[in-house]
Amino acid sequence: MEFSITDIDGDSSPNFEFKGAHQAFKDRWKETDATMCRHSMSFHLHHTLRNEFFASYLYLLEQIPLVKLYPVTCEYIEGEKQFYYRAQQFYEDVPASEEGMMGDFVEISNIDLEGSRKFLNRFVGPGQAGTNCALDCGSGIGRVTKGVLLPLFERVEMADMMEHFLLHAHEEYLGDGADRIETYYCYNLQEFTPPLKKYDVIWIQWVACHLVDKDLMNFLMRCKKSLRPNGVIIMKDNMARQGCKLDPIDSSIIRHLDIMRDIIFKAGLEVLAVEKQQGFPEIIVPVWMVAMK
Ligand SMILES: C[S@@+](CC[C@H](N)C(=O)[O-])C[C@H]1O[C@@H](n2cnc3c(N)ncnc32)[C@H](O)[C@@H]1O
Repeated sequence: MEFSITDIDGDSSPNFEFKGAHQAFKDRWKETDATMCRHSMSFHLHHTLRNEFFASYLYLLEQIPLVKLYPVTCEYIEGEKQFYYRAQQFYEDVPASEEGMMGDFVEISNIDLEGSRKFLNRFVGPGQAGTNCALDCGSGIGRVTKGVLLPLFERVEMADMMEHFLLHAHEEYLGDGADRIETYYCYNLQEFTPPLKKYDVIWIQWVACHLVDKDLMNFLMRCKKSLRPNGVIIMKDNMARQGCKLDPIDSSIIRHLDIMRDIIFKAGLEVLAVEKQQGFPEIIVPVWMVAMK
């Protein structure tokens, strides 16, 4: 059974076609009910079959992780998407520090930055992406900006939904590097449209997991439009070993790399390279870097 990403969020999604098919089956079974003798063997057989059929049908649907996540990621209360509301609440209490950005794993920050620099170098240089301007999406306090982007690019811009992270970046964390931050965008990425044709590199780390599939796809489409010639988008994130998993605490979804590839493909982007971050402890969910244009 195949599901497209619009199953998750789109109003005109195939998920609704499924619901339609489901309803049509149910209606047809109901009609037979009315025309059968309630005491006959065939009536009982019919009922047993029907119950079994729907139980297995729903079981099969539940096996598909995206369908399982749908009720959680699409829930609205008083017009507010709860998936995003919960993430907002979560990050309000996160300290503006490297520890805050890395959760319980601040000790792997340097390995992470080193892996990122190496990966990025593959796409920057003569005949490849320039070094004029980069955008750090879901930048937080600018850990990646400071450790990966500022050493390579003349100017960097940062986008994050939390004002206190951006303020801390500007006032303290980036030090003199803050002079080369052209703009801080305090936006939700699902609502943010980066300027057209501006960036050589757009870095998206540990934030794609905070967007539902459809918003992520649309955001990637907008990012594509804001690349300069030879520009690349690099996404680095936790990727599930299987299917998709939701973390209800910080409202994030980890997706299998194949699911991520599907979203990237649907956004009209071409994957240039994928690489697994090496050197992280085994207990950590695998982290992958994906370059695309
Ligand atoms: C785990 S931190 C990673 C920060 C940074 N990318 C790094 O690697 O150090 C996730 C960041 O994404 C931001 N974020 C989460 N959901 C977001 C959204 N929907 N729009 C914009 N920023 C978001 C959070 O405020 C937080 O700064």
